[in-house]
Amino acid sequence: MQKIERNAPCWCGSGKKYKNCHMEFDEKLRHFEMAGHIVPDRGILKTPEQIQGIRESAVINETCLDEVMAKIRVGMTTQEIDDIVYDTTVRMGAIPAPLHYEGFPKSVCTSINEEVCHGIPDDDHVLQDGDIINVDCSTIYHGYYSDSSRMFLIGDVPEEKKRLVQVTRECIEIGLAEVIPWHFLGDMGDKINQYARKNGYKVVREIGGHGCGVEFHEDPFVSFVSKPGTEMLMVPGMVFTIEPMVNMGTDDIFQDEENGWTIYTADQKPSAQWEIQVLVTETGHEILTNWSRLESERIHG
Ligand code: MF3
Ligand code: CO
Repeated sequence: MQKIERNAPCWCGSGKKYKNCHMEFDEKLRHFEMAGHIVPDRGILKTPEQIQGIRESAVINETCLDEVMAKIRVGMTTQEIDDIVYDTTVRMGAIPAPLHYEGFPKSVCTSINEEVCHGIPDDDHVLQDGDIINVDCSTIYHGYYSDSSRMFLIGDVPEEKKRLVQVTRECIEIGLAEVIPWHFLGDMGDKINQYARKNGYKVVREIGGHGCGVEFHEDPFVSFVSKPGTEMLMVPGMVFTIEPMVNMGTDDIFQDEENGWTIYTADQKPSAQWEIQVLVTETGHEILTNWSRLESERIHG
């Protein structure tokens, strides 16, 4: 980290003198770094203007998922879900982030039952009575990225699968409670892992959350099987996703060889995932993608 003179303007662009702005913050960071911890680079800390941009992007992101929630039902194809997300995003002046992202062909990910994530919408996937589905929506608005996902219960879902969806949602709440400035991402990941395991489930290790806002996938990688006191220090201005993939059976997964995207559970047992995007604040956190509108309980017949 570059040393700044006390009376020079702060690096954050506030226009204030460094000594009256981020000087103390930088000293605190340096202290953690000296103690061997991973600390964020300035580049991933968001300015108030960027945070406002991400909030606006997130409103569109949530509107897409609300539209899906209103229409999703038995007999619908995942292509129709893609159409809803594409149309809503574009109508609101935004761009679907997945479309053409590293070659991804559609506007949203739709992952049913044993599909862990990155399911590709098409005309052949028809929602069946008893399915659980994750709809993972990512949005670019005025250059700012938002990313969130919800589970939907399709028709009459067996208790076993409902419980998986519910516990996974609780994992998000448990993780969120650990998003506290000057604590570690590993504290959060461990709480989620412990809670999932206590309920008899396993959390996917290879895929996790990520910094998000100015780019789709930024540092840090966010693990949900991490150990307390490890991983990156959470500091005010960081924005990342909490999105554990929770498996009913084994945590082993594999990738679709044909499409190069879709991830499945190795034992074909169901997997669930919810995702929120969160900002670390001076006092705790702010959920950028609106958690209050989640509703896994409703039956979408
Ligand atoms: N939305 C996913 C995430 O949460 C990323 C999907 S990449 C895509 O990180 F290309 F498949 F869309
Ligand atoms: Co994400």
